[in-house]
Amino acid sequence: MLQKFIVANWKMNKTIGEAVDFLSQFIPSVEGIKDREIGIAPTFLCIETVGKALKNTNIKLCAQNVFYENKGAYTGEVSPSMLKDAEVEYVIIGHSERRKYFHETDEIINKKIHASLKEKLKVIFCIGETLEERKLEKTKEILEIQIKGGLKNIEHVEALTIAYEPVWAIGTGVVATEEQIKEAHLFIREKLRDIYGEIANEIRILYGGSVSPENIKSIITLDNVDGVLVGGASLDPLSFAKIVKYDQK
Ligand code: 13P
Repeated sequence: MLQKFIVANWKMNKTIGEAVDFLSQFIPSVEGIKDREIGIAPTFLCIETVGKALKNTNIKLCAQNVFYENKGAYTGEVSPSMLKDAEVEYVIIGHSERRKYFHETDEIINKKIHASLKEKLKVIFCIGETLEERKLEKTKEILEIQIKGGLKNIEHVEALTIAYEPVWAIGTGVVATEEQIKEAHLFIREKLRDIYGEIANEIRILYGGSVSPENIKSIITLDNVDGVLVGGASLDPLSFAKIVKYDQK
């Protein structure tokens, strides 16, 4: 079985002070946990502070986004080499909020994945259908397009994590059913196998969308669910610690 991976995506939340407060409670509460991987993706503004606090802990520094060039006239952007320099280990690419509000296409996402892997960053590549697409029974079609587009000519399987985040389950409190999650994750696994062969069994597939301390256990123990990407419930240290320690009382 793959080691579970539990990642906090803070999105556009927390000042530097708030991040420090969170970590002062969260780090001790998960100390010594070694049988699963834990990650936190803060905003760029507090990435250095958070990175320093996470040094020599069991928590990995993650970023929420990246650009596909390493330097130049790209106002407002941050490059893969800059993330590497800040000792970021994982970068989230293709989140549905980036696709929706910043018009990121599969092609742009593919360029970002290539550029990040070149700098030896590990990638958490997000995919997922909208409610409309699900209603039209296009879920599998959309997932396949996103997988094929995003992973075009990508070879570093060992540095890849996939996150299945149905858009309609993000921040809504509406969690996908166990059947929906199992079906989507199995489909993603099959598509990855089509591209990479049996080595695709080593790629972790995370679920994201209204994960909470209450539902974590039933989700993370499903077939082909190798972890979770958590938004809202990762903002509170107690709540995120409960998610990380889903199998403890
Ligand atoms: P919520 O956990 O707030 O639904 O967000 C999920 C998400 O988008 C994680 O990347």
